[in-house]
Amino acid sequence: MRIILGVAGGIAAYKAALVLRLLTEAGHDVRVIPTHASLEFIGRATWEALSGQPAPSDIFEDVPHVPHVALGKGADLVVVAPATADLISRAATGRADDLLTATLLTARCPVLLAPAMHTEMWEHPATRSNVATLRSRGVHVLEPASGRLTGADTGRGRLPEPEDIVAAALALVGDPDAPQDLAGQHVVISAGGTREPLDPVRFLGNRSSGRQGFALAETALARGARVTLVAANVTLPPPARADLVAVETTAELRDAVRAAAKDADVVVMAAAVADFRPATTAETKIKKRADGSAPVLELVETPDILAELAAQRLRAGQLLVGFAAETGDCDASVLEHGRAKARRKGADLLVVNAVGTGRGFGTADNAVTILDVHGEAVANAAGSKASVAHAVWDAVANLR
Ligand code: C5P
Repeated sequence: MRIILGVAGGIAAYKAALVLRLLTEAGHDVRVIPTHASLEFIGRATWEALSGQPAPSDIFEDVPHVPHVALGKGADLVVVAPATADLISRAATGRADDLLTATLLTARCPVLLAPAMHTEMWEHPATRSNVATLRSRGVHVLEPASGRLTGADTGRGRLPEPEDIVAAALALVGDPDAPQDLAGQHVVISAGGTREPLDPVRFLGNRSSGRQGFALAETALARGARVTLVAANVTLPPPARADLVAVETTAELRDAVRAAAKDADVVVMAAAVADFRPATTAETKIKKRADGSAPVLELVETPDILAELAAQRLRAGQLLVGFAAETGDCDASVLEHGRAKARRKGADLLVVNAVGTGRGFGTADNAVTILDVHGEAVANAAGSKASVAHAVWDAVANLR
């Protein structure tokens, strides 16, 4: 695929080198167009060396080939990372005062912008309106991540992780090299983590980011599936071509999954579903008590959605995949807990991963063992959440 990678002038420009690497390693032909301002951060030599191609910024370079028209028209996909407030503004108003903005005007392929700027700039009404304008024209503008910004400051406006940018960009076009073994199949995927309300302002929740579930959705789309994505409290941008159902609680997730599963070929429960919820939800905020005593929470078990689907299949031949986020303890290792769970739940496959500080939840990478219903390992996978997702689809294909 011919991909244009635009780089605008922000400190996150250095992360575009990783975006470029991921795209070229996936076999794509990438041309980088840095803005002049971005060259204050990362020099042209970096882009030319990493892409193996010239990396022009100006309309008046290489004039006989009319690059400001040729590059945009010949592209299959345009990705701008980072997209600064200035670049977004120029794109929204249709300026063509450098090669990147001219290319955005001539491109007729999917365009993805990955914003990075200070929180104040992202929240400014001018930027909000520019983003809305671009989205109304069909440009895909990712939500920026929250976290460390240029200096010691933190907040919303951080460039999304390169892995996420690449996955979102390739999902716009479908990966032509992906096997089409899910073509014609309806796949239901739950992602994120459920929240069980204690009162109108508090909930019991978990740290699941939804990344692994979203990677499963993106890779299933790339492999030809129709995807229903049931997302519990996920702030990541959803894959553009998935049917999204947003839920909050376990009860809502159960209803949404069961409704979609009626005509699903595969159901993957990647969501971290609460095992317990408060027995009652207070109608008003729980107050501190005059005597200083703390309330005692009574919890009740939630229905096990995966075990229910396994015990009574909603459609003949439907394949069920569960995820088990485990921590080892003095009784058993992560894998031993996983084996017992595989046998107990009755899903066709159980993907076991270790979670804990810095592992599993919220991170870009994952490492898993895929077990069959007897608890026997059928595959191991480690790497990006997209590569783990492909390993899950490979294991599903082997069961067919
Ligand atoms: O028992 P545990 O929560 O570790 O099981 C994990 C697997 O079971 C995941 O696939 C999760 O989505 C699913 N699950 C469920 N309903 C619950 C709890 C977990 O479907 N109430």
